[in-house]
Amino acid sequence: MIIAIASQKGGVGKTSTAISLAAGLARKGKKTLLIDIDSQANSSKVLMPNYPEVPVEKTIFSTVLDRKPLVIHKTSIPNLSLVPSHILLSNTDIELTTAIDHREARLKTELDPIANEYEHVFIDCPPTLSWLTINALTAADKAIVIVSPGYFELDSIVQISKTIKEVRGYFNPNLELLGFLFTMSDPTINTSTSLQILRQTYTDKVLKTIIPRNTDLRDAHFSKQDIFAYNPRAKAALAYNKLIHELFDI
Ligand SMILES: Nc1ncnc2c1ncn2[C@@H]1O[C@H](COP(=O)(O)OP(=O)(O)OP(=O)(O)O)[C@@H](O)[C@H]1O
Ligand SMILES: [Mg+2]
Repeated sequence: MIIAIASQKGGVGKTSTAISLAAGLARKGKKTLLIDIDSQANSSKVLMPNYPEVPVEKTIFSTVLDRKPLVIHKTSIPNLSLVPSHILLSNTDIELTTAIDHREARLKTELDPIANEYEHVFIDCPPTLSWLTINALTAADKAIVIVSPGYFELDSIVQISKTIKEVRGYFNPNLELLGFLFTMSDPTINTSTSLQILRQTYTDKVLKTIIPRNTDLRDAHFSKQDIFAYNPRAKAALAYNKLIHELFDI
C-alpha cells in the first residue's frame, strides 16, 4: 500500500508522522520505503546521516525532473529505505507547470514497477498544493491528512479534501482518504474545540488515534533519530505505535 501523508498547512506533523510510521513498521520487520518529495528534505536529513553529501542526481529531483528511476538509499534503520529530496526541488513547480506530458505522473511511473518490493511505501508531502503534492497523490493508493489544533489548521482541510477529490477525478480513480490524523494534541481548550469540530464534521474519517504534543519528538529529530530509537517510552512513540496498530493491525 502506498500512503501519501499530506496537508498544505505547514508544520502540522506530516514529516514526523511519515518518519514515525515508516521507522515503526521497519522496526517491526516490515520492508518499508519512505519517499521524501518536500524540498525542505526534513525526513532525508533525519534518516540519512550522510545527507549533506548526497548529490542532486541521487535524489527524487532526478525522477521528477529528468524522469529517471527512483534512487533508493539505505538508512541506518534495518528494513527502511529512503528516496531523499533536494532543495532544488523548490524550483520544479514552474518547470512542471509548463511541461505538457504526464507532469502529474512522474513519481507514479517510476514507483509502480518497484512498489511491490516493499510492504509499505510512504510519501512525505510538501506543505503546498503543488505539482509535487499532485505527483504524490497520483502515485498513492491512500492519503492521510494531518491536522493539528487551530482555526487555520482546520480550515486547511477543506482545500486538501478538494484536491484529493480532483486528483481522484483527473489522475487517480483509486485514491482513497485513509483518514484525518489529529496531532499535537494538548490539554487546552483550543485542542478540545478543534477535535470536537473535526469529529463533528468528518465523523468516521477521523482516525481514532491522537498524537499528543510531545517534546521528545522534537528532541529525537535534533539527534537525527526516529522516536522509537530516541525514547520508545515517549508518549509520541506509544501513540505512533497505536496508530500503526489501528491502520495495519500489527
Ligand atoms: N506531536 C508533536 N509534539 C511536539 N512536537 C511535534 C509533534 N509533531 C511534530 N512536532 C515538531 O513540530 C515541528 C513541525 O513538525 P513536522 O516537521 O513533522 O511538520 P510538517 O507538517 O512536516 O512541516 P512542513 O509543513 O514544514 O513540512 C517539528 O519541529 C517537529 O519536531
Ligand atoms: Mg514536513
